Amino acid sequence: MRIAVVFGGASSERDVSIASAAQVFTALRGRGHDVLAVDTAKGALGPDEVEAFTGSTVAYDPPGLDDVPATELTARLTAEGGPLREVDVVFLALHGGSGEDGTLQAMLDSAGVTYTGSGVLGSAVAMDKDVSKRLFRCAGVPTPDWTMAPVGVAEVADRIGFPAIVKPNTQGSTIGLTVVKAPEQLAGAVAAAAVYDREVMVERFVPGREFVVGVLDGRPLAVGEIVPQLGEIFDYQSKYQVGGAVETFPADLPGDVTAELQRLAVDAHKALKLSHYSRVDFRMDADGGLWCLEANTLPGMTATSLMPQSAAAAGVGFPELCERLCLIALD
Ligand code: DAL
Ligand code: MG
Repeated sequence: MRIAVVFGGASSERDVSIASAAQVFTALRGRGHDVLAVDTAKGALGPDEVEAFTGSTVAYDPPGLDDVPATELTARLTAEGGPLREVDVVFLALHGGSGEDGTLQAMLDSAGVTYTGSGVLGSAVAMDKDVSKRLFRCAGVPTPDWTMAPVGVAEVADRIGFPAIVKPNTQGSTIGLTVVKAPEQLAGAVAAAAVYDREVMVERFVPGREFVVGVLDGRPLAVGEIVPQLGEIFDYQSKYQVGGAVETFPADLPGDVTAELQRLAVDAHKALKLSHYSRVDFRMDADGGLWCLEANTLPGMTATSLMPQSAAAAGVGFPELCERLCLIALD
């Protein structure tokens, strides 16, 4: 296949995207495909830049990122004769912002370019945590109580309780998120989240265990358990620092709990009208109650990221997963 791995973007998850794309690129090339690396902030990479980007000693960091909006460059990339018109399928290795929220997907649809992952609607809905949770509720997928800021301390104490999670409505990788333990911390946490989004969510914190489930082509993969090592939640540092979390696939759970998490993951995936694949995140409370936090339409895709681990534990290795995502998109 001729494949363009599209990555970068200008969102706060740009670095995560570069890490995902470098490994997807290497895996697909290793399977013998004709692979192009395309940074939305820069265009198609030449051989030297590919070497830098896939992890040689040279740092990969194109200048002038803030100068050109990603959507403007994407328009150039998808124009007649542009690099994304020359391939069979685009592998989206973007995270956050217009790469994950349906904007880029709409541009690719308009240009008639085939891409991996969810379409416009699913991407937009999954990026909006508030809308996602409403749809989870409609589909009978339990999700922790929440409200949107502005909200008074008394109302949070009454409806949500402390500790509460305060987070931007449309961010990934726990950026801008705070665990608010006491009422006097609420205003500061809302202000910190508001740096990243006009809308801020206040959600009930579920003390207990954290699980993830990959969904591939409508079927659940293995359940994994995450135990953060640097603090009580799986935050940005725990996610991306070596040793930041212990991740166990398959999770040590009774068969019926595993099956229930897998069923809820598929229900959550369907409730948001997602396609091809996703990673659904859960917490389990002290009574064994399962609570869905969100579904990620473009989950981290390094070989050791959670979605690839979930697939590997279900018998689908990383290069095969990358290839299958392209084949599913082309189907
Ligand atoms: N937003 C990050 C990349 C994830 O969901 O894995
Ligand atoms: Mg997320």
